[in-house]
Amino acid sequence: MCGIVGYVGPATPSTRPLDVAMEGLARLEYRGYDSAGVALVTPEGLATAKRAGKLANLRGALEEDPLPGATAAIGHTRWATHGGPTDTNAHPHVSEDGSLAVIHNGIIENFAALKAELLADGVTFTSETDTEVVAHLLARTMNGSADLTAAMLSVTARLEGAFTLLAVHADQPGTVVGARRNSPLVVGLGEGENFLGSDVAAFIAFTKEAMEVDQDQVVTLSADGVRVVDAAGAEVHPRRFTVDWDAAAAVKGGFPTFMEKEIHDQPKAVADTLLGRTDGHGNLVLDELRIDEAILRSVDKIIVIACGTAAYAGHVAKYAIEHWCRIPVEVELAHEFRYRDPVVNEKTLVVAISQSGETMDTIMAIRHAREQGAKVLAVVNTHGSTIARESDAVLYTHAGPEVAVASTKAFLAQITACYLLGLYLSQLRGNKYVDEVAGYLEELGKLPAKIQQVIDGEENVKEVARSMKDATSVLFLGRHVGYPVALEGALKLKELAYIHAEGFAAGELKHGPIALIDEGQPVFVIVPTPRRPTLHAKVVSNIQEVRARGARTLVIAEEGDEAVTEFADVVFRVPQTPTLMMPLVTVVPLQIFALALASAKGLDVDQPRNLAKSVTVE
Ligand code: F6R
Repeated sequence: MCGIVGYVGPATPSTRPLDVAMEGLARLEYRGYDSAGVALVTPEGLATAKRAGKLANLRGALEEDPLPGATAAIGHTRWATHGGPTDTNAHPHVSEDGSLAVIHNGIIENFAALKAELLADGVTFTSETDTEVVAHLLARTMNGSADLTAAMLSVTARLEGAFTLLAVHADQPGTVVGARRNSPLVVGLGEGENFLGSDVAAFIAFTKEAMEVDQDQVVTLSADGVRVVDAAGAEVHPRRFTVDWDAAAAVKGGFPTFMEKEIHDQPKAVADTLLGRTDGHGNLVLDELRIDEAILRSVDKIIVIACGTAAYAGHVAKYAIEHWCRIPVEVELAHEFRYRDPVVNEKTLVVAISQSGETMDTIMAIRHAREQGAKVLAVVNTHGSTIARESDAVLYTHAGPEVAVASTKAFLAQITACYLLGLYLSQLRGNKYVDEVAGYLEELGKLPAKIQQVIDGEENVKEVARSMKDATSVLFLGRHVGYPVALEGALKLKELAYIHAEGFAAGELKHGPIALIDEGQPVFVIVPTPRRPTLHAKVVSNIQEVRARGARTLVIAEEGDEAVTEFADVVFRVPQTPTLMMPLVTVVPLQIFALALASAKGLDVDQPRNLAKSVTVE
């Protein structure tokens, strides 16, 4: 939530700082789009511009009223927490004398006490944000000195909560100072210029060399160097890494929206996640699982923690891992896990799934699990992210940057990584399914082509979606691994099209939800393969039950499954796939359906209302 970018370049003022900041903000806009703003350090002092609404509003304002050339810049795109999405609450926030500007991602929990103190001292506030206290505190702490870094260290020591802060001062034209606690910040290393960003997407158009910033560290960025100190002011040397994302992957590439592009990226996301993880002889090689094999062998319970779509990937993982490894798997929403008293110990493996690697609910759950002695394995898409850093091991998904707020390709990559984990644990622990690992890996290898086949049939799904643009409620039913697919189908429709959508376990229908069925009620049903006859028959009965009560049935079924035809108003076909792997194909028509229906309603599918991609507050 909230995107942050910082830049310092050559000493001669130019338009580059603003250009870099705006490019970074465009790539980070998915993190929040309530308002956007920039502050530049120019020879005439600070120059700022900010506007409520999307980045386009700020761009328009800058065209009308251009800012002068600069040597450094900070930029912010906001997801409002304290104070509504107005021009005045937009970041940056500036000190009373106009010499210092601050941007912030997170929540400063003790801001009310700090504000009271500043008000008593006669400070005038212009916004309702928690961030503004930092601008005033920094200015007062500097009090004529030219050491923004020392001021940042001293002010952050007084702050409680979560923050990434970037600050610039008119008297320090070649410097941006950043700090972080419980909120993300990454450094980008250039030649004669350096960058800061909430994530690497902020600067991948300019450099792929990056550096992590750890908890409670303060970064001083200049054109030719980056100095990082810990909370005590001692210099530290954080890990450097090279970003393996292609900058082109974060642009629309000819598609009308990022979401559509990312749906089309899915065969590659799955293929890339599988790549290099087998030895060519049917064995899995997951060198990155840096958890002692003896510990992995002794694990007696797995708990998957995640939120939203990532949690649905966790549900799929449960079916696969329990079947292949015979280890009990619980799936829990991270925010629920953290605030009860979960039974976790040294024999528990916690699997944290996250696209962004910055979801605060998941971070807090990880910390709690590790405190109880559990090992944490992260399934993460974003390199250098907090979850990747704070876990014992990371199994990266290789979906590339996901820009659309609604997750698509990351979901498929997460499921794929979880299959790899399940098969690996089965191989390692040598249980009764170990002989099947090679066969499953071979089947997984066929999935990218099968996903492509479903995407190739998208026009059919889109046409049905367009015809349903006035629907007010859509239900989704699934059984076994079809159940999390139903939940995901409903979530996609809610978040993109803003209509009532609910996913149910098909067997649960008769325990209540069937009362919702009325004449014409659209119901999607995800049908398992007929090669699992008992499971299949149950779902076919469920289709009949809702149809008998007037539902319009939209059925997702395998090619050749003729048993459904009679009871389906519409059938979307998917290629034949082993049961456990069916989510990788059955969810795709549901993604396309939500995208097309929302587009037909004229909605912004990349940036749905009220949402942000990285949920960095609890
Ligand atoms: C829905 C969606 C969210 C995320 C959730 C977790 O389309 O994207 O439900 O899945 O906020 O985010 P990550 O995976 O970044 O932890």
